[in-house]
Amino acid sequence: MSLPRKEGKKKFVHKKFSSVSTRYDFLNSLLSLGIDRFWRYKTVKAIGGVEGPVLDICAGTLPLSREVFRQTGNRVVALDFCLDMLQYGAKMLDDKDKQNIFPLCGDGENLPLTSSTFGGFTVAFGVRNLSDLPRGFSEMFRILRPGGRGAILEFSRPSLPIFRSLYRFYLHRVLPRIGGAISHDREAYVYLAESIQAFFSQQEVYNMLRESGFVEVNYTPMTLGIVTLYTCKRP
Ligand SMILES: C[S@@+](CC[C@H](N)C(=O)[O-])C[C@H]1O[C@@H](n2cnc3c(N)ncnc32)[C@H](O)[C@@H]1O
Repeated sequence: MSLPRKEGKKKFVHKKFSSVSTRYDFLNSLLSLGIDRFWRYKTVKAIGGVEGPVLDICAGTLPLSREVFRQTGNRVVALDFCLDMLQYGAKMLDDKDKQNIFPLCGDGENLPLTSSTFGGFTVAFGVRNLSDLPRGFSEMFRILRPGGRGAILEFSRPSLPIFRSLYRFYLHRVLPRIGGAISHDREAYVYLAESIQAFFSQQEVYNMLRESGFVEVNYTPMTLGIVTLYTCKRP
């Protein structure tokens, strides 16, 4: 499979998440052996102490939005362009969540939100799916209040050579089989593997965040570099 080009990517990504929405959470935990919860915990911890509402972008079925509210107690706007993902996630909210987490259907590259509104933003496994990443970052910058902080969790590629080969085998041979069998959409999991392989390096993401105007940009690889947590601040 060749990755969709910029123009077709949005449509393709929307279709694939719509198709796997009811199996997404289960597969996420299975394929990461449950470590995804720890990764999200660390992501929210990175914006700890943030004041004001938090925007969770590419929120999907809301696992990170729930973690933001659990850890910070702040109100969360949970934005995603795939209504099926948001609707499935909204069913899992308890009464307290429902009063504090507000799902919003919209495009992460064109946020339907007023500038300088949020004390923080989070994104987990979302930026890899954007078709115009610099555009996404400039939108994240725009909606933050001065002094606001952001945390971005995304897949990356392990640097240790032996582990890198093993991980590549897992990505291309194991993941599409399991993901495909359970979700009935093998193509979605082939896309997952290929988009991880093709995504920008950590240094490139760092540079783009700096070019978007963010300061205090840092990145921390986790779990042997399978994922990386990027943090940044609007001056
Ligand atoms: C891998 S899921 C991540 C869901 C969730 N953040 C998590 O922690 O599991 C990626 C989500 O990004 C959304 N997405 C991709 N491109 C988007 C865009 N341009 N605007 C808004 N959401 C987008 C997809 O619909 C999908 O729900």
